[in-house]
Amino acid sequence: MSVATTTADEPTRRDFIHIAAASAGGVGLAALAWPIIDQMNPSASVLALSSVEFDLSPVQAGQQVTVMWRGKPVFVRRRTPKEIAEARAVPLASLPDQLARNANLPDSAQATDQDRTIKPEWLILVGICTHLGCIPLDHQGDFGGYLCPCHGSQYDTAGRIRRGPAPENLYVPPYSFLSPTRIKIG
Ligand code: FES
Repeated sequence: MSVATTTADEPTRRDFIHIAAASAGGVGLAALAWPIIDQMNPSASVLALSSVEFDLSPVQAGQQVTVMWRGKPVFVRRRTPKEIAEARAVPLASLPDQLARNANLPDSAQATDQDRTIKPEWLILVGICTHLGCIPLDHQGDFGGYLCPCHGSQYDTAGRIRRGPAPENLYVPPYSFLSPTRIKIG
């Protein structure tokens, strides 16, 4: 499985590297298990294909890696202390979308930085602009988060829409920590 990584230091350079396929072994295991599970029942097969595990340890502070999950790009971003502080300093009332859009929390959860993450260092987002579905560029834009090249939507370092036509914050997918350095998305 290929993943892309970028750094805060080189915001204009998109550096595509391969990190060991084992880091996202959930996909391979799910594919191998398909013929067996398919004979059991549909709900079990859907469940098996709906998650992917990812090893966080190669990702350095200031970097982002993109993992494919259910055919969608998921941004796995290791935030710097500065990025976390900037996100936490934003008053909720100033946000265009004040809902957390976090699949791990109730729909009514608010878009505080705390409710956009599980651990402050790790920002996990579905990398699809909520305007018309382009893939935003990381570490770009006036808020240091994301810039969507299609129509100029800008998101902050918590993935919250701050300017432009996108109506909602970038979605936080369902995920959990299996260990301090491993997450399961889905
Ligand atoms: S699709 Fe992102 S701003 Fe339009």
